Amino acid sequence: MVAIFPLAVLLLLLNSGTVQSTPFPVRVGVVVDMDNYVGKMGLNCITMALSDFYTKHGHYQTRLVLTKRDSKRDVVGAAAAALDLLKNVQVQAIIGPLSSMQAPFMIHLGNKSQVPIITFSASSPSLLSIQSPYFVRAALGDSSQVRAIAAIVQAYGWREVVPIYVDNEFGHGIMPFLADSLEKVNVRIPYRSVIPSFATDDQIVAELSMLMTNQTRVFIVHMRTTLGSRLFSKAKLLEMMSKDYVWIITDGMTNELTSMDQSAIEEYMQGVIGVKPHIPKSEELHKFKVKYKKEIQLQNPTNHDLDLNIFGLWAYDSAVALAMAVEKARIRNATFLKKANDSTTPTDLEGFGVSGIGTELIQALSSTTFRGLAGEFKLVEGQLESPPYQIINVIGAGARAVGYWTNDNGIVREINFAKSTKKTYSTSKSNIGFIMWPGDRKNPPKGWVTPTNGKKLRIGVPVKFRFFEFMHITWNSDNSTKVEGYCKDVFDMVIEALPYGVQYEYVPFATSDHKRAGSYDEFVYAVYQGDFDAAVGDVTIIANRSHFVDFTLPYTESEHRINEDFRGPLWHQVGTIFWFSFSTMVFANKERVISNLSRFLLIIWFLVVLILTQSYTASLTSMLTVQELKPTITDVNELIRNKETVGYHNGSFVLELLKGLNFDKSRLLAYNSPEDMHELFRKGSANGGIAAAFDEIPYVKLFLAKYCSKYIMVGPTYKTDGFGFAFPIGSPLVPDISRAILNVTEGKKMMEIEKKWFENDTKCADSSEFSSSNSLGIESFWGLFMIVGIAGVLALIIYVTSFLYENWHVVRPGSDAETTLATKSLVLVQRFNNKDLTCHTFKNYERRVNHNDCGCDCARIVMEPSNEYFHPSPSTFSQNSPGNNSPPSPISSSP
Ligand SMILES: *[C@@H]1O[C@H](CO)[C@@H](O)[C@H](O)[C@H]1NC(C)=O
Ligand SMILES: *[C@@H]1O[C@H](CO)[C@@H](O)[C@H](O)[C@H]1NC(C)=O
Ligand SMILES: *[C@@H]1O[C@H](CO)[C@@H](O)[C@H](O)[C@H]1NC(C)=O
Ligand SMILES: *[C@@H]1O[C@H](CO)[C@@H](O)[C@H](O)[C@H]1NC(C)=O
Ligand SMILES: *[C@@H]1O[C@H](CO)[C@@H](O)[C@H](O)[C@H]1NC(C)=O
Ligand SMILES: *[C@@H]1O[C@H](CO)[C@@H](O)[C@H](O)[C@H]1NC(C)=O
Ligand SMILES: *[C@@H]1O[C@H](CO)[C@@H](O)[C@H](O)[C@H]1NC(C)=O
Ligand SMILES: *[C@@H]1O[C@H](CO)[C@@H](O)[C@H](O)[C@H]1NC(C)=O
Ligand SMILES: *[C@@H]1O[C@H](CO)[C@@H](O)[C@H](O)[C@H]1NC(C)=O
Repeated sequence: MVAIFPLAVLLLLLNSGTVQSTPFPVRVGVVVDMDNYVGKMGLNCITMALSDFYTKHGHYQTRLVLTKRDSKRDVVGAAAAALDLLKNVQVQAIIGPLSSMQAPFMIHLGNKSQVPIITFSASSPSLLSIQSPYFVRAALGDSSQVRAIAAIVQAYGWREVVPIYVDNEFGHGIMPFLADSLEKVNVRIPYRSVIPSFATDDQIVAELSMLMTNQTRVFIVHMRTTLGSRLFSKAKLLEMMSKDYVWIITDGMTNELTSMDQSAIEEYMQGVIGVKPHIPKSEELHKFKVKYKKEIQLQNPTNHDLDLNIFGLWAYDSAVALAMAVEKARIRNATFLKKANDSTTPTDLEGFGVSGIGTELIQALSSTTFRGLAGEFKLVEGQLESPPYQIINVIGAGARAVGYWTNDNGIVREINFAKSTKKTYSTSKSNIGFIMWPGDRKNPPKGWVTPTNGKKLRIGVPVKFRFFEFMHITWNSDNSTKVEGYCKDVFDMVIEALPYGVQYEYVPFATSDHKRAGSYDEFVYAVYQGDFDAAVGDVTIIANRSHFVDFTLPYTESEHRINEDFRGPLWHQVGTIFWFSFSTMVFANKERVISNLSRFLLIIWFLVVLILTQSYTASLTSMLTVQELKPTITDVNELIRNKETVGYHNGSFVLELLKGLNFDKSRLLAYNSPEDMHELFRKGSANGGIAAAFDEIPYVKLFLAKYCSKYIMVGPTYKTDGFGFAFPIGSPLVPDISRAILNVTEGKKMMEIEKKWFENDTKCADSSEFSSSNSLGIESFWGLFMIVGIAGVLALIIYVTSFLYENWHVVRPGSDAETTLATKSLVLVQRFNNKDLTCHTFKNYERRVNHNDCGCDCARIVMEPSNEYFHPSPSTFSQNSPGNNSPPSPISSSP
């Protein structure tokens, strides 16, 4: 008995498994636009999905029972259909709606009645932000594709794109996400083109014509094919499907390309690129496609247009998912709890109850995963997980895949899931296959053209009295201006280096009688006030000004390097000194120094050379490295203490700086040009001139270059950031201009501009003296040279004296009456020329020769002398002397 009981239970269990109890029907509503082909396709696919599913899973205890409602392409229609389904049919779930516009109200209804709303086509990202737990998107949100689009834009280096989108929930939903992802890759959206969903042809043409006149040539089109195909036909009409243009379509169009009129694609959309969710190939998908075609032809033998697209597959997968979830939630009853006092509500709208099983159902659905026709079915945060995207190019009547974008690897040529362990994200355009661009072009368009709408940036330029090298404005008779100068040339080249075109014109910051309209601070302030779109000139970047404008990076340094040639003369000296010191160090050592006096002299000379070398090394080092800007305030204080007048550049910020240094206002004098400055210096502080001038280093250098002999530049050097271009605060141009400045200043052309404008300034206006006292010249070492000179002369005197003393017997008057003074001196010279055998070094040589232990060096020395040298005979000398007046030299007199 005890043993039989479990057996009975087992039999009971087996029985219950095999016995086909009638499955429990679960009512499910379907709300679609019945006259829309996506709606028809969706409905067909859902029906086929359920029939397939329950054929395969006949033993399931639940059956979905569909109740279909037509939303009639209408938001209210969809709401009414949903309300009817909830109230009267009491469905446990609703599949639909089709469009993002119809969705929000239905989502709220679903939340209220706790009935899951499952859409397979409403893709607007904003729907998820309603944050209803009962809303499921069994499709991709539009935001999934924005990174793929941004990657394409990045790959081709386009810097500005214009989105064209339909003015409704579907169109607007993607924009925040698209804008964010484009911003992340530094792509600007200068303009958004919004097309009304029921736009007339004229409206479309007007909008496109406006886009045509602007410079951006990259357009991202986000709309459904009904509007999209009209847009492209108008674009073709306006010749915007030609070279220079880039058209990128989102999956709003790519998903439905196959159902578009093929001749329209061939005619209007050649060269368009786009992104499309990647559907992995599978046996089931292939079978279903065949089956679907058959089914459609059975239903409607004359209609061949109902091509299957991804929405059908998503509809199929959502029906399967729902059927699985219902079974998983073990739903055995379908209570719909009526609200206790719903009769008291004034309107009919809230007269529906709450689903008793909604919570279980939505939980089961959220955790349902399976391999569907459209790929892996897995819900992440209420919508399908984002798949890889195909990059397509429209050629002929269809689209061709030219590459893929994956979340982990960016743009890849082939989708290869085995390789996706490699986690390098790249957006290289080399991974994209051949693309035929609009206008049958093979090369990618650069994305912009010079705009034709004539809107130009107003670039302010300062009027200068002098220092025309930086900026020079001349007025023609018709009031037109000619702007020249270093700053202008740099700006022109920087604009040229920008990755997009900028139209601009120079507008002088001048009064009506062509005079300067204000100081540089006021010039910069004019940009703040909107008088100019930018300020270009010798405008120094300082903190105070940066409160009103955004500066670009400096295009000159505050330590000045406008022209290498400024250093020309110094370089020459350095070169000479190098040779000089080397010759002493290297060559002199070959000779042996014997005399103590010579040694004494050489020691001094080496000392001098050492000092010279060290000085020039130090000088060279300081020239080659950027000088540390060290303020030495003492000098400035001296100027203030002595009540000296100092000069400043008229209009420069230096005036504020000097006031800040507590200079008395009456002690400040403005000058306009280097000549002015020179004149004021000549007068001197006592006679209405100046004792010192403060100026920005570029001007100081120019001044010093003109008057190089008379002035020196001394510290303190106040650090500023050099010259920059000023733009209104927040101008999007600033980062791009800064980048272009770096590109230009690091390039070769900058040198050419510098040479062009500052070549003349390297020539001294008064070249009477070369030296400039803050460099080391020959006069810096006069003391050293004097010591060497005196030592040399002393050594000479000592030597001559001792020589004469040793040879006194030769020159002694009266020692030999017949010899004249001339012969005496000749004899002396001869004796001088001979080796002094008393010198201990010669004794050493002789010993070495005898011992035969001599190296090559001394062997050479020893072999040279002949006996005559050691024992000069007077007769040899006297034979040579008559008739041969040239002084005997060792070489000429040797046999
Ligand atoms: C969804 O319903 C719950 C409960 O009725 C409510 O608290 C929540 O605010 C609703 N959410 C939305 C988005 O309506
Ligand atoms: C494009 O041009 C129109 C006028 O032709 C102008 O109003 C609009 O601001 C321009 N857009 C851009 C981004 O420059
Ligand atoms: C319906 O089923 C749920 C469990 O699925 C159960 O908790 C509930 O009591 C049932 N209601 C009725 C009326 O049978
Ligand atoms: C019924 O309605 C009254 C007022 O209309 C409200 O105070 C009450 O809470 C409602 N009862 C329920 C169960 O919702
Ligand atoms: C040039 O401009 C000045 C001041 O704006 C004006 O007085 C003068 O008539 C103009 N000359 C011509 C030729 O337009
Ligand atoms: C800063 O600039 C403003 C406007 O040009 C000027 O009025 C002010 O005196 C300046 N301040 C200093 C500290 O230079
Ligand atoms: C400085 O420039 C202003 C015009 O901006 C001018 O009126 C003034 O005379 C100039 N000062 C000197 C000393 O030249
Ligand atoms: C400047 O930009 C051009 C074009 O983008 C590039 O070819 C060149 O190498 C850049 N030069 C420098 C110095 O970066
Ligand atoms: C430099 O001097 C030459 C000859 O005097 C002159 O033609 C040229 O215009 C000058 N260049 C500049 C930038 O002043």
